[in-house]
Amino acid sequence: MSEFNHAKTMVITEFLAYLRLLSRRLKMSQLITISRQLVHFGPWRNIALRLLPRSLPPAGVQGAVSLLPKHNSSEVVSSLRQDGLFILGELPHNFISKLRLTTDKLPLKEYKLVHQVSDEIRQLSRDPNLLSLLHDYFNRTPQLIEASLFVTGPESHLPDHSQNSFHFDYAGWESLNVFVYLTDVTLESSYHVYVKGSAKQISWWDVLRQIVPKTEVYSRFNADVTPILGKAGTIFIENAEGFHRRNKGAERRVLLNLLYTSHRNVLSYGRSNRKGLRARDRIFKEITSQQSNTL
Ligand SMILES: [Fe+2]
Repeated sequence: MSEFNHAKTMVITEFLAYLRLLSRRLKMSQLITISRQLVHFGPWRNIALRLLPRSLPPAGVQGAVSLLPKHNSSEVVSSLRQDGLFILGELPHNFISKLRLTTDKLPLKEYKLVHQVSDEIRQLSRDPNLLSLLHDYFNRTPQLIEASLFVTGPESHLPDHSQNSFHFDYAGWESLNVFVYLTDVTLESSYHVYVKGSAKQISWWDVLRQIVPKTEVYSRFNADVTPILGKAGTIFIENAEGFHRRNKGAERRVLLNLLYTSHRNVLSYGRSNRKGLRARDRIFKEITSQQSNTL
């Protein structure tokens, strides 16, 4: 990213963080969220998507070195369109081991725009086969708008967090989340749960209430409620407009989330802020200097 683009991103990010704070202070955040969701999920969305310019697939992917497990792109894209979910498999062991030298030491917290501070995450976010796959889904050049690490601790004894309830997210007119587990995730862990096919069945009532009770999700979708388990390195792609939640597990869990949209607009700058990014920089720097001291 050029200096100019970096500065522009920081200015817009900080301005959006200020607007979010202001809307909370004015007690308008709920109203704004619902209004945005009504705009996003309304029938006019199809018109907006049709108007977005399409682009040609990236050149030179054939034979390029990729971290992604072998896959059939058209099979992945059709599963994503039908179910909203595809589990690709596991990333190379060496790559994950190297990344975990840092992520295993991170304190419990959310870290934003981590492709700026991790070579491995930046490499994955630019992986030629991943970008080609995302292009096949969007028919447009994928735009990385968030790269976050979520480090959570044991939470089975804690009250419900909003992420523990079934909800949906959205970004741009069309988006996909690429998730990678960076710790082994079992039934004891805070595993991710996705409801296959639910992205196509969001109702107006769902849009207004945002959170849907578990009992209702099971009665509406039952067999499609899919817990995702796997070893560190498990990579899956999801349309987060479908219902999903985080199980309350008894172990530390680290999850990488790369969020791509089919286009960029003024709201496509993620949810970071200057204070959070400074804390991120300090923590990553401390871990890196500890590593060089032990060499
Ligand atoms: Fe979510």
